[in-house]
Amino acid sequence: MSLITVPVALGARSYDVLIGADALEAGAARLPAFCPRGRALIAADRAAFAAHGERLLAAVKAAGLTPLVREIEGGESAKTWAGLEALTGWMLDQNMERGEALIAFGGGTVGDLAGFAAAVMKRGCAFVQIPTTLLAQVDSSVGGKTGINTRQGKNLAGAFHQPALVIADTGVLATLPAREIRAGYAEVVKAGLIAGADLFARLEALGPQALDGPDLVRAIADAVAFKARIVAEDERERGVRALLNLGHTFAHAFEAEARKGELIHGEAVAAGLVLAFRYAVRRGLCPPADAARAEAHIAAAGLPARIADLPGGPYDAARLVGRMGSDKKNAGGAITLVLARAIGAAELAPGADPADLTAFLAQEIVR
Ligand SMILES: NC(=O)c1ccc[n+]([C@@H]2O[C@H](COP(=O)([O-])OP(=O)(O)OC[C@H]3O[C@@H](n4cnc5c(N)ncnc54)[C@H](O)[C@@H]3O)[C@@H](O)[C@H]2O)c1
Repeated sequence: MSLITVPVALGARSYDVLIGADALEAGAARLPAFCPRGRALIAADRAAFAAHGERLLAAVKAAGLTPLVREIEGGESAKTWAGLEALTGWMLDQNMERGEALIAFGGGTVGDLAGFAAAVMKRGCAFVQIPTTLLAQVDSSVGGKTGINTRQGKNLAGAFHQPALVIADTGVLATLPAREIRAGYAEVVKAGLIAGADLFARLEALGPQALDGPDLVRAIADAVAFKARIVAEDERERGVRALLNLGHTFAHAFEAEARKGELIHGEAVAAGLVLAFRYAVRRGLCPPADAARAEAHIAAAGLPARIADLPGGPYDAARLVGRMGSDKKNAGGAITLVLARAIGAAELAPGADPADLTAFLAQEIVR
């Protein structure tokens, strides 16, 4: 199968995203450029490594490199201060030099942690992303946001640190549980809802087939190309990049409130997307028909479209709004949301009234 290359244009920090069923082998051949000491330091998700480690190691060795692997238990519990300490400690034990890259092999959690570790290691080492979940391939591995969760909430400590290369091998998705595939699909849908009415219409027409074979490769490439365009325009989220957070202010609040280990990020995003449309309808910004269309597609994909469908609950409206108060987009103490004017037209909506949001969520919880 052919390899698709999506460039991310960021001047001196530009890089390629390689997408396809054989991307691992093609991408590994480029690794020696980032591994001047002939060794490949790899932070690997344990499950992904158990399933695909042999192939990874063969590709790395075929490129003439000696692999050194640190296995990490994937999931949100990886993205902690303790996880950062353990990984950077391992990197220092390997006497890693600033010129060497750290290679992240795993989902968004291992990628976010490893990217942050690379950002702080000796004031900044290079890193390479080899995303092994659909969510990481379509979203988290591209754009340079890295970080960890703190007890106050998701992703509150981190750094902008772009990877030097992203290798999105669709073959590794074969072992991903169906629930995780659906969760990743939520971020593809998000791309369509923010600024890709055509992409969304194509996903709607494809239905479940969008998650299969060549259609999936194309959907990944479309979502990556969309994100690459936005990141190239606004690397540090001073403007348009904030739109990528459609649904995420709600999602992060659910994740902070959920019973530990029960809710996964893409599921929270799915429900958050629907809420971003429905709250926009409440504020008179969005036609109800567009909100219904977004909700119908998310439900048809087997994703939670209502709060009642979300694992990890029950959820409380006031507590959720309390969590939304510590979101990174907020300014001057007021809650900033990304809302939808229509399918394919998201916009920033600062100054959301906490009392109105609480009333809205209370209704949504019993819907
Ligand atoms: N940096 C960004 O721009 C950005 C964007 C979106 C999301 N995120 C973050 O990404 C994280 C979610 O990432 P995720 O959905 O990839 O979750 P994840 O990293 O927890 O991976 C999901 C599960 O799949 C397992 N796994 C990974 N690859 C596998 C494979 N090939 N086969 C079988 N099992 C495999 C993992 O062990 C884990 O249990 C969240 O923390 C979210 O905040 C970051």
